Amino acid sequence: MNQKRENWGSKYGFILAAAGSAVGLGNIWKFPYITGENGGGVFVLIYLICIALVGIPIMMAEIVIGRSTQKSPVGAFSALAGKDSPWKIIGWMGIFVGFIILSYYSVVAGWALNYTFMSLTNFFSGKSPDEIGSVFGMLYTSSGINIFWHAIFMMMTVGVVLGGIKGGIERWNRILMPALILIFIILAIISVFLPGWKDAVNFVFFPHFDKLKASGVLEALGHAFFTLSLGMGAMLTYGSYLQKDADIVKSSIWISVLDTGVALLACMVMFPIIFTYGFSPEAGPGLVFKTLPIIFAQIGSGGMFISFIFFLLLVFAALSSAVSLLEVVTSYFIDEKSWSRAKATLVTGGIIFLFGIPSALSGSGVLFPQWEAMYGKNFFDTFDYLASNWMLPLGGLFISIYAGWIMDPKLREAEYLSGSTFTSTWYYKVWLVFLKFVAPISVILIILQRVGLIDIDKLMAAIF
Ligand code: PFF
Repeated sequence: MNQKRENWGSKYGFILAAAGSAVGLGNIWKFPYITGENGGGVFVLIYLICIALVGIPIMMAEIVIGRSTQKSPVGAFSALAGKDSPWKIIGWMGIFVGFIILSYYSVVAGWALNYTFMSLTNFFSGKSPDEIGSVFGMLYTSSGINIFWHAIFMMMTVGVVLGGIKGGIERWNRILMPALILIFIILAIISVFLPGWKDAVNFVFFPHFDKLKASGVLEALGHAFFTLSLGMGAMLTYGSYLQKDADIVKSSIWISVLDTGVALLACMVMFPIIFTYGFSPEAGPGLVFKTLPIIFAQIGSGGMFISFIFFLLLVFAALSSAVSLLEVVTSYFIDEKSWSRAKATLVTGGIIFLFGIPSALSGSGVLFPQWEAMYGKNFFDTFDYLASNWMLPLGGLFISIYAGWIMDPKLREAEYLSGSTFTSTWYYKVWLVFLKFVAPISVILIILQRVGLIDIDKLMAAIF
């Protein structure tokens, strides 16, 4: 039982792997389309506030808990709070949310795989923007193709997780993250020359407060958790493999800056195209697939190559996130049930594949069409909505309460200080204020507002 826990190969390796978990479909596929649906600048502003005030402090808390216990979520809370403690529910919830998110995440990654291979056929060349858009429609509604790519992507994820921490996850991230950022910078430079660039900057960076909706605030908060991989123990699990001499504050800030940078770059690639061609920013989940091929089509013969590389990197960005989702689930069975890594990975990967089938069939509407009629969302949207808007923020809320109020203060401080260059007690106290008050109160207020128990506008008017 007393095996030495696997570690990352280096501190840099941890930052890259954690950034690999954070940077994924959330940044490139989801952030631009929910920004489009929620009116642009004001949503981006709230999202940035959520990252800074809620995200970074909770990320540090997850890493502190993971590294101090050297365990995955259920084991970590059982070690800290006791074997029969209700706090273990945080760990259980994390596994459950990991199941749900990965099941539909893999379907979207499957679309990216499809586009990677379609790029090789130069499918967009000579097509009008509308025709390019309808290619996505065809893919979205075809059951067999969706299930096929979902299966392939799940096999890739299982393959990497089977390789373990250093050999699998870390090695890939070292090359792929920098490559992804490079290609985005190139695309963002190309976008600067499009006539719609100015409108895009105005849309993304200038808040129009009249567009602010309560549902948008909840979505921004939920997305801050989703994009930073918080609230379900993924960062906690990665932190459990972190060396004691690594700086938790610096790492968390780096991961968040990289993650936010990629999300904003993605917007600055996509929105200029949208405004140049007069598309609606509210195109929903198909946005990235409908817009980017338009630039690729214009680049001429090199477009095919760039398109292939872009979608391939998108697949890898998704893979490095998917791996962290699966790692949360498998590490439970490895740590707590003493399963071998191979057994845990294959069994849980298989079950998640099955769980994803309703999402893969959502576009074609062949499975329980009544569901959409009843709830106004198909399976895919329902899973995404529940997981990221509700379960992750709730998980994050409990983690901040545990780390801020319940965890042994000496242990917490020692773990914070281990390897830290932010050793002044000031920094530590500022973090505690965020962890104990700012983060949980913000999450509670946003949730109360969303369920209609309070009205923040009225509250503000009464206070000021
Ligand atoms: N952060 C990933 C993304 O933005 O695509 C998604 C994700 C990974 C969410 C891991 C949660 C998680 F635990």
